[in-house]
Amino acid sequence: MIRVNTSKFPLPKHNAKCFALCVEQDATFEGSLMTMEQAFVPGLQRFMADANFIGSSGQKLVVPALTDKGILYCILVGLGTKKNGFFAIETYRRAVGTIVKEVAQVKSDTLALQLPDSKLFSVTDDYLAEQTVTIADMAYYHFDEFITDPKRKWLHDLVVTLVLDGHNEDAINKGSYEGVVIARGVNFTRHWVDMPPDHATPLDLAEKAKEIAQSHGFSITIFNEQEVNQMGMGGLSAVSRGSERDCHLVILEYKTKKPHAPTLGIVGKGITFDSGGLSIKPADSMETMKDDMSGAAAVLGALDALGSLQPEINIVAVLPLAENLPSGKAIKPGDIVTFYNGKTAEILNTDAEGRLILADALAYAVKHYTLDALVDLATLTGACSIALGHFYTALLSQHDELVKKIELASKLSGDRVWRLPLDDDFKPAIRSEYADIKNIGSKKYSAGTITAAFFLQNFVGDVPWAHLDIAGTAFDVPDISYYRSGATGVGVRLLVELAMNWK
Ligand code: BES
Ligand code: MN
Ligand code: ZN
Repeated sequence: MIRVNTSKFPLPKHNAKCFALCVEQDATFEGSLMTMEQAFVPGLQRFMADANFIGSSGQKLVVPALTDKGILYCILVGLGTKKNGFFAIETYRRAVGTIVKEVAQVKSDTLALQLPDSKLFSVTDDYLAEQTVTIADMAYYHFDEFITDPKRKWLHDLVVTLVLDGHNEDAINKGSYEGVVIARGVNFTRHWVDMPPDHATPLDLAEKAKEIAQSHGFSITIFNEQEVNQMGMGGLSAVSRGSERDCHLVILEYKTKKPHAPTLGIVGKGITFDSGGLSIKPADSMETMKDDMSGAAAVLGALDALGSLQPEINIVAVLPLAENLPSGKAIKPGDIVTFYNGKTAEILNTDAEGRLILADALAYAVKHYTLDALVDLATLTGACSIALGHFYTALLSQHDELVKKIELASKLSGDRVWRLPLDDDFKPAIRSEYADIKNIGSKKYSAGTITAAFFLQNFVGDVPWAHLDIAGTAFDVPDISYYRSGATGVGVRLLVELAMNWK
């Protein structure tokens, strides 16, 4: 975790071990660079020249300095050049990520970070602080719960001092608070995704949901496997049948104090381990399948943040939680199940299980609530990372207004989405000879991410609905400075932004 404070003193005037600033490409050597050199980094300008540090995007330079306070580090990261008059905020996010990773590298627990001018990015001070703090905290995330070697453990919080330079202090404090809250949600999600599957079971997650509900005063309902069976949720119950562990369906409700507010439904896939079932996965594809509850975990992380931020919109979250394992009791290819809304599906591949549990959850959400929009997040298809790779979440929807809202939230939050066509041409791909639909698309249609979304469409009624496939973005995203290997917490920043700025 990080702890944040703000200060009006110039950068070198702080009692920190690391001092960081972002540098525009080809900037003249003045301002904070100059004061750093004069204060305690003699030769800084020459170090920069010698290392060919020009401040290009992502470029970094760490200059140690031996002072009477001990060894200090001056960390410079480039912002590159302006595009259309401004620097990109994502470049800044990554610069902050690079800085914090460098601080962790030198095992320091104090950082004084010079805030750049918000106008460079065409943003407010409030937003700049929120982004800075969110990213700093995300970059400091680590998962060492199961590491016993003390040398490999991260022992302390990082204290970050945001150094103001004419910024509005109140705005910076407000944004900084929001940043801490959002990062707490993101890192909560990452923690639960990174947890080994036997330590993050459907019951464990249901209990976590309960803790979150209690700490924020949400109402919560938890159905156990027996109740799920009795309610006629044939999808969730079929997927869970091969597992010794009970499935659960969790419903959380946040109510705003604002009267006549719209209601947003959110559904998150919560497969705590996906072996594929009888259609078992090859060993190497199974290695990361503890991440198959990333959708559900993102919804919980977002709700934890939103409980503190209090959006002016009602939220209903529905989380189907189950484990997908083979056994003598497991669901078989060829079986037909009946879902909560009465529709039937032929299960041809037990590894296409996500859509089966989501079907019941979506049907439950639209039956019991009057929703203005419904969004689901799921690590649904391997095809998604073939189509889009790891930097963009797939967004599928036939509701342009909802798409616009999500795309805006995506831009502001940094959780990037890319729309795929949800065109009716793909609909026949999941037609079944034996049931209403089948759980895999016919080969000739390809586009597994799109045909999966069409499966889900059968369960949302006429509520404006968008599906986010996070199979490529939830885990092991390369190269982004504020992530690490493992869980990314994708979706949390997006959902928080979507709920906070719902219009
Ligand atoms: N959980 C997987 C999708 C997945 C794959 C997520 C890789 C993250 C990384 C999902 O349940 C699955 O197995 N989907 C199948 C569907 C297929 C059988 C139609 C897939 O993508 O192979
Ligand atoms: Mn699967
Ligand atoms: Zn799965």
